[in-house]
Amino acid sequence: MTTPTVDAAIDRSRQVAAALEAHPERHRMLTGDRPTGDLHIGHYLASLRSRVALQDRGVESFVVIADYQVITDRASVGQVAANTYSLLADYLAAGVDPARSIIFTHSAVPALNQLLLPFLSLVTQAELERNPTVKDELAASRRPLSGLLLTYPVHQAADILFCKADVVPVGRDQLPHIEQTRVVARRFNSRFADGAEVFPEPTALVNDQQLILGLDGAKMSKSRGNVIRLAATPDETAALIRKARTDSEPVITYEPERRPEVANLLNIVSGFTGAPPEQIAAGIGAGGGAALKRVATEAVNEGLQRHRELRGTYAADPAQLSAILRTGNAGAKAVADETLAQVRSVMSMDY
Ligand code: TRP
Repeated sequence: MTTPTVDAAIDRSRQVAAALEAHPERHRMLTGDRPTGDLHIGHYLASLRSRVALQDRGVESFVVIADYQVITDRASVGQVAANTYSLLADYLAAGVDPARSIIFTHSAVPALNQLLLPFLSLVTQAELERNPTVKDELAASRRPLSGLLLTYPVHQAADILFCKADVVPVGRDQLPHIEQTRVVARRFNSRFADGAEVFPEPTALVNDQQLILGLDGAKMSKSRGNVIRLAATPDETAALIRKARTDSEPVITYEPERRPEVANLLNIVSGFTGAPPEQIAAGIGAGGGAALKRVATEAVNEGLQRHRELRGTYAADPAQLSAILRTGNAGAKAVADETLAQVRSVMSMDY
């Protein structure tokens, strides 16, 4: 995506954030995750908490567990069911409330998936091939490009548009997909619906939370083993942080450019305690790396204590988890059926 496109998306994000403050009840949000493994503190600080805050403010909420996206860039589904239930346990523990948010797996919603067909007719091969996130994922996968990897941004448009969500909280890496979704909505309305607004053009809500890096200073990723999983025990957390990379300077300061690994630990503490990172750094000062790690371990373990208790309780009750998922899937199906009926009608296919 070009810089002006990104800037415009960030501008729209700010505007929609203000609109949400004023009238949360006028908006519908959809967001979600791929069930590829356990969530980590980066997910928690950057997305889970803000989703719950929006739900609690009265924004109508949908959360997709994007199980078909698991096979975009890998050969098998792996532990998809276990990962799905683990994700659900983290959602519930974080405060996503199934009475107020529809939580669903997109594989269980046929009408959502059928939207992919008309939507695919609205995009060109060239548009699909230049999506930067798809290109990155292709390079990281070291596999040939699958048809699903190439087209999944359009499938993601179906995730968003089936419920006519107007707000989509995401990380910056997802902006190309939201842009693609806007194009699909716009073209659908103009080509198939004579300009009537069947689908609203959704806005990405990009959060301002400092990007949390892995404990080695690289991007957090499960495959690098540099993440703190939400499900980790306090002892595992302590051991991980003890091994985290810092630098050899004796005094702790907050200098994200020059001392990224130290700044990252400070950002983690800040994320969990709410104190500004500069202030945390000043408090530790000459205590150095050892004190910083002690403070970070305590902040994470205290900040997640309640979450971990709750996720353990949910995870221990698979029957309850599958009942919650079935209810969510039924709710999503009802919404998707209605949208598909409208789509077939405007496309003169309602025989
Ligand atoms: N692609 C997103 C990710 O990898 C997950 C996702 C699937 C999603 N469908 C979505 C996010 C719809 C927002 C809206 O994180």
